[in-house]
Amino acid sequence: MAQVTEVIHPLLKHHVTILRDCRTPPWEFRQQVRRIAALLASAATADLQVVSKPIQTPLAPMVGVALAGRIALVPILRAGLGLVEPLQDMLPHAAVWHLGMYRDEETATPVEYYCKLPPDHPADVAFILDPMLATGGSIAMAAEALARWGCPDVRVLSIIAAQPGIDRLCHEFPSLKIFVAAIDPELNDAKFIVPGLGDAGDRIFNTLPE
Ligand code: PRP
Repeated sequence: MAQVTEVIHPLLKHHVTILRDCRTPPWEFRQQVRRIAALLASAATADLQVVSKPIQTPLAPMVGVALAGRIALVPILRAGLGLVEPLQDMLPHAAVWHLGMYRDEETATPVEYYCKLPPDHPADVAFILDPMLATGGSIAMAAEALARWGCPDVRVLSIIAAQPGIDRLCHEFPSLKIFVAAIDPELNDAKFIVPGLGDAGDRIFNTLPE
């Protein structure tokens, strides 16, 4: 069974509410995504491996720590791009491998149009970045690609997830670790999360229909 963490924090609830509000303009929506991503990153990285690192402060020698292992950020285009910079701020040495997918409007299933994952040398830990987890199809496709790559520790950072999508991923990817800011109960007939926040990619990139 996948490990699902709905991160509970008053700052998250505050910022997710602004994110959901249909009156929030794209410039503010992007700011909110960054704030929420930073809070989620704190939870999703809490058990990363570290190694001892001796250093010298201006006053004395001491033994600190450094992150161990190769870390990858795997944003799903387009909306996942909004999560990259806040994660890179926390994990400046992480590699970023882009996956391009869109959801077919008729079938609500993902269509892959770009995969930048290399053939070998998998990361030790990979974070799939996508603000929305609706049916779970896009993240399932990304998780399959990371499994083929050989990544042993795959984590998902999503802002809003729908319960049916979470249930699907738990069933299909028992070793996945999923971190979300909110779990909404259902999908509508068009497979949009309800209450959700609409189309995250359009709201980030200001491409909503006039
Ligand atoms: C949205 C969203 C996720 C996906 C979620 O992408 O950003 O990637 O749908 O749906 P799923 O869980 O049912 O797969 P969209 O197809 O709108 O592409 P975009 O990010 O380019 O706007």
